[in-house]
Amino acid sequence: LAPGAFLRQPGAPLTVLAHRGASSAAPENTLLSDEVARRAGADWIENDVQPSKDGVPHVLHDDTVDRTTNGTGRVRDLTAAQLGALDAGAWFAPATAGARVPTLAAQLDDLRTRGGSLLLEIKGPHTRDEVARIVKDVRDHGMAGRVFVQSFETDALRYTRELAPELPLGLLRASLDADPVAVAADLGLSAYNPADAALATRPEVVAALHAAGVAVNVWTVDAPARWKALDAAGVDGIITNRPAELAGWLAAR
Ligand code: G3P
Ligand code: CA
Repeated sequence: LAPGAFLRQPGAPLTVLAHRGASSAAPENTLLSDEVARRAGADWIENDVQPSKDGVPHVLHDDTVDRTTNGTGRVRDLTAAQLGALDAGAWFAPATAGARVPTLAAQLDDLRTRGGSLLLEIKGPHTRDEVARIVKDVRDHGMAGRVFVQSFETDALRYTRELAPELPLGLLRASLDADPVAVAADLGLSAYNPADAALATRPEVVAALHAAGVAVNVWTVDAPARWKALDAAGVDGIITNRPAELAGWLAAR
């Protein structure tokens, strides 16, 4: 992906990024929520990635499996075999029982087959070797052109940049840096991705980041009133639990 590929062109609609897949309509971070997001017309599917005990990257948000599966325990204390045996859909609705915790490899296979691009969040601190395993999965699947890496973890972004300079990077922030442009330059960012409430404190950083060639994607925004305000503020993308509704809202304008 070329630098600047995430910048919204004049007159173009903002990008719809489906948070944990279409997580309002299906169990988050499963192939099912990814499929619902794809059908909703999401431009990107956001998933969280972290390793199992035996080092296999899996798609799961929390650091334990307790909330979103029928199991218990820390993700990093469970093997790939143990994670693969869990039900990741029954907690959401009886009809979605049987959904699995995907490996990143399975998720990439699914994207390659069915289409779509991945906003891959490296969730939590990772070692260089753990990031290398993520990079290997992406490259082995021939998906480097359809993966955009984001993280709250600056170390993980630095490892990614060193190991896979072809992958564009986004920094997640719950509050704004004093100088987001300087941070973006230091980390080699293609995108700076703040929380909605954080951006609202200083919306002028959007123009400053754009002047530096850095896109701004805002999370996690589900209310039409905020979609309208962020659209007017010129952000490039919105990360939402409701991609079908955001796509519909954009189409109706
Ligand atoms: O993509 C932004 C968002 O995913 C960051 O927060 O906790 O949902 O991973 P979280
Ligand atoms: Ca995330």
